[in-house]
Amino acid sequence: MPMARIAIVGIGRVGLATGVALATKGHDVVGYDCDAARVKDIKSGIQPYYERGLTEAFKRVTKSGKLSIVGEPEKALDGAKYIFICVGTPPTTDGSMDPSYLRNASRLIGKAIGGRKDFPVIVVKSTVVPGSTEDIVIPAIEEASGLPPTAFGLCVNPEFLREGTMMEDSLKPDRIVIGSRDRRSGDLLQKAYSGFKCRKWRCDLRTAEMVKHATNAFLATKITYANEIANVCGALGLNSDKVLEGMALDPRIGPRFLVPGVGFGGSCLPKDMRAVVSASKQRGYEPRLLASVLEFNSRQAVLAVDMLQKEVGELGRKRIAVLGLAFKPDTDDVRESRAIPIIEELIRRGAEVVVHDPAASLSQFGLNLPVKVARTAKEALRDADGCIIQTQWSEYGKLGGSDFAGMRKALVIDGRRTLKSGKMPKGVIYRRIG
Ligand code: UGA
Repeated sequence: MPMARIAIVGIGRVGLATGVALATKGHDVVGYDCDAARVKDIKSGIQPYYERGLTEAFKRVTKSGKLSIVGEPEKALDGAKYIFICVGTPPTTDGSMDPSYLRNASRLIGKAIGGRKDFPVIVVKSTVVPGSTEDIVIPAIEEASGLPPTAFGLCVNPEFLREGTMMEDSLKPDRIVIGSRDRRSGDLLQKAYSGFKCRKWRCDLRTAEMVKHATNAFLATKITYANEIANVCGALGLNSDKVLEGMALDPRIGPRFLVPGVGFGGSCLPKDMRAVVSASKQRGYEPRLLASVLEFNSRQAVLAVDMLQKEVGELGRKRIAVLGLAFKPDTDDVRESRAIPIIEELIRRGAEVVVHDPAASLSQFGLNLPVKVARTAKEALRDADGCIIQTQWSEYGKLGGSDFAGMRKALVIDGRRTLKSGKMPKGVIYRRIG
């Protein structure tokens, strides 16, 4: 496989996992970030992100000299054949995409490639609303570089990495989507990916941008559908797990992303959905299904609190334990975690909230909710009038009789199908959504 010099602009989770994967396949990769503290940490071996296998893989490729991390853009960009844009695309207050990081990165790249005659290929990996590459990236690069559009290549190459398993997903993707402005750019990027054995699927720039959004929106909708069916089953007195299991036997449906609970969180699904809903509305089409998925999701978390209140009565001055702050297990990320609306609702109804998470904290992401923090799940449960399991951490799946024995009222609202209902110790009231 021909090896190339690759620059990564933005070494957040996605940029780092991508850089490590490309370096593992033999490319010479230099990652750049404007955040000096992040660069310093990563260089000194402190991983800012909890990702399975990342630390070991990172060590391997830095030791072999295939990957380096720098704080000076020219060190990464000068002479790079491929330049991956992996910067964040955070939301603005109205939910639309904030394009400023994307624009700044494009300008930086434009400045660096000015005068080059070797057709460097710029690859947009950040999740962007359709049209962003043509409307923001290309003009910014052209302006800053002074180059005509024919002098550089342009691709959109969305990532489908799941937090927690980003290393596995980057090294063994099940598909690689390559959107390109022209055939030459796409062929070059496909060549860079020749060490990855999976289907490479080609399309144009806007299609690739939309494939990413459509995929995430489908996953969010599938989860929401499972939640709706579970709620209906609950109302009808049916076992939703059995119903969903039976439904998933249809190969057109399948069991993945069909696990009901308190709703989807994380830094991607909710943000991407809002961005695409907002972009579509601005262009005159109101995507009602997608908008209602978002609305449904915000209500689903509150259902857990309603369920709890039904058993406990008024929540004023009741002590409620919330187990799990992370938006899913095996990560310390609390961004858009369903723990936040659950805690806020409990507080609004007057409860005293005590939280526990084996890895995540709210303050880490600047969230300061008036809650007590327990060191262990057992400590959180002590004297509680009920608890809500919000994250499916494996340690919560092992909770047993002695853990619940210290509760004032042994009531468990399982928001994530964490405990086996048939195995609950005597005296524990166990409820779950659906
Ligand atoms: C998601 C997508 O799954 C990735 O494919 C995508 O690349 C990524 O966003 C992104 O856009 O970068 P991630 O945010 O890591 O990945 O999280 P998921 O594993 O999708 O879980 C999202 C939320 O849905 C979690 O809160 C999880 O608990 C919930 N969920 C998931 C359910 O409630 N039920 C399910 O069946 C599955």
